[in-house]
Amino acid sequence: AEGRTERIKKNIAAYPDFPKPGIVFRDIFSILMDPSLSADLMALLEERIATICPDADIIVGLDSRGFLFGMPLALKLKKPFAPIRKKGKLPGVLKRVTYSLEYGSDVFEAQSDSIKPGQKVVIVDDLLATGGTMEAACKLVSDMGGEVQLCLVCIELSGLKGRDKVPNPCHSIVQY
Ligand code: PRP
Ligand code: HPA
Repeated sequence: AEGRTERIKKNIAAYPDFPKPGIVFRDIFSILMDPSLSADLMALLEERIATICPDADIIVGLDSRGFLFGMPLALKLKKPFAPIRKKGKLPGVLKRVTYSLEYGSDVFEAQSDSIKPGQKVVIVDDLLATGGTMEAACKLVSDMGGEVQLCLVCIELSGLKGRDKVPNPCHSIVQY
């Protein structure tokens, strides 16, 4: 039987020249359209956490597609979930980090009481491209005193070498 990982890889839709010429956009939503593929992907993500850091204290999801995977994983593993969001979306007392994009910069924020010093953290996102987003998330979590045990993504665009920027252990389910 074809493996779960191969089936997922084969079914992630690729859109040439989106959002601009020369980029091949990998669309995770093509997996979520199929409940059997979705279930396999969630199981693979869960197995990574169970193998690498079963005693993690909290799952952190990155705005916005990271929420699609972080929250159901937290629910299944009976762990708390907390968001890291783009600026201006979260209320209350916040911690923030500025990170650079291809053009200009952006700000990531977390609620100050969401990650406590010494907590073991899993950061979840849909995709690792240049690694700038995951690098910023790691910095924010460690500034808050959290220990990032695992950065977990569904898709890694290996050619961009994003993982070289990520200061903590990084795992992906499929690579292109
Ligand atoms: C995409 C993707 C990752 C990030 C990866 O998010 O979901 O979070 O880019 O890129 P990088 O590795 O080059 O930093 P986007 O900012 O498009 O936000 P969205 O999830 O809200 O669509
Ligand atoms: N797919 C989805 N999101 C992305 C991509 C991609 O190929 N590259 C950067 N963000």
